[in-house]
Amino acid sequence: MRALVVAALAAVLLAQHTPQPPPEQPIPYSHKKHLSLGLQCKNCHTNPDPGETMGLPATSVCMGCHKTVKAGSAAIQKLARYHAEKTEAPWVRVYQIPSYVFFSHRAHMESGARCQTCHGEVAQRDVLFKETDISMGGCMSCHRLNKASVDCAFCHEPRQ
Ligand code: HEC
Ligand code: HEC
Ligand code: HEC
Ligand code: HEC
Ligand code: HEC
Repeated sequence: MRALVVAALAAVLLAQHTPQPPPEQPIPYSHKKHLSLGLQCKNCHTNPDPGETMGLPATSVCMGCHKTVKAGSAAIQKLARYHAEKTEAPWVRVYQIPSYVFFSHRAHMESGARCQTCHGEVAQRDVLFKETDISMGGCMSCHRLNKASVDCAFCHEPRQ
């Protein structure tokens, strides 16, 4: 299985479509900068039960450091304002599939896929953009390579 998933990595990256420009985010958060501090994905993306989503971090996670770190910066003051108002930062989604598609992060992680397989080299990015193909074609080609099902009902509610 693992070897097949590695083969799929090449396939997914090759299936790269025209990369889309990064959306403008409310706060200029950099994955590259924060991962170089030694943080891990799971510090901010927790995959709560039943394991479908990875989630986005609450402002309280950020404020654990930013109450003091760079507290004078305009970007951090904006972050602190969201936190004080008990609202989450309105992050603009980069990878999003329609709600009529079934998808579970946990099932894919358990099959040996890695974050980079589907999201590219996040740790090298200052800003994230949609750089891999998570369209139906992208899902299907990895399923074919890994002998996972490509039945319509596997990923979609059966239609009447
Ligand atoms: C098999 C492909 C695949 C793998 C592997 C994968 N993701 Fe995702 N990820 C997706 C898809 C597809 C979405 C969009 C899900 C949606 O809109 O419901 C997504 C969405 C997300 C989101 C947005 C929040 C959410 O859950 O919808 C985050 C954050 C994320 N992924 C982080 C990660 C991290 C961290 C890892 C590794 C631990 C990872 N992903 C591994 C395909 C993948
Ligand atoms: C483990 C501590 C830690 C956590 C948690 C953390 N940061 Fe940071 N952040 C830092 C440090 C340290 C820097 C300064 C890095 C540098 O410039 O060298 C920084 C820099 C920044 C900057 C740049 C500020 C400026 O004006 O230069 C922004 C914006 C930022 N962080 C946003 C966030 C957000 C949003 C979160 C939560 C999703 C977050 N940070 C979580 C430690 C942290
Ligand atoms: C300090 C907190 C923090 C850490 C650590 C972190 N992220 Fe994130 N992540 C965020 C924030 C904040 C966003 C929303 C802003 C953005 O898209 O850049 C985000 C967004 C994402 C998204 C886009 C989700 C979507 O659909 O909009 C992906 C994919 C992702 N992260 C993957 C990862 C991976 C993989 C790692 C580990 C290599 C990681 N992140 C580590 C805070 C973090
Ligand atoms: C890296 C290769 C890869 C990619 C990309 C991928 N899948 Fe999968 N997927 C698999 C494998 C392998 C399995 C079988 C896991 C198992 O045997 O439990 C699977 C299983 C599934 C399952 C069944 C999960 C469960 O709960 O048992 C669904 C639904 C699914 N994928 C949907 C998708 C969708 C939708 C996408 C695109 C957004 C996608 N997959 C992208 C490899 C992939
Ligand atoms: C491995 C998962 C997977 C399988 C299997 C799958 N789909 Fe999809 N399908 C998706 C994803 C992901 C999207 C959303 C793509 C996007 O973001 O636009 C989608 C979107 C669609 C759409 C709406 C988008 C459009 O192009 O208009 C239709 C219709 C559809 N699928 C039909 C089917 C049929 C029919 C089958 C069986 C032959 C099938 N799907 C099998 C993952 C899958």
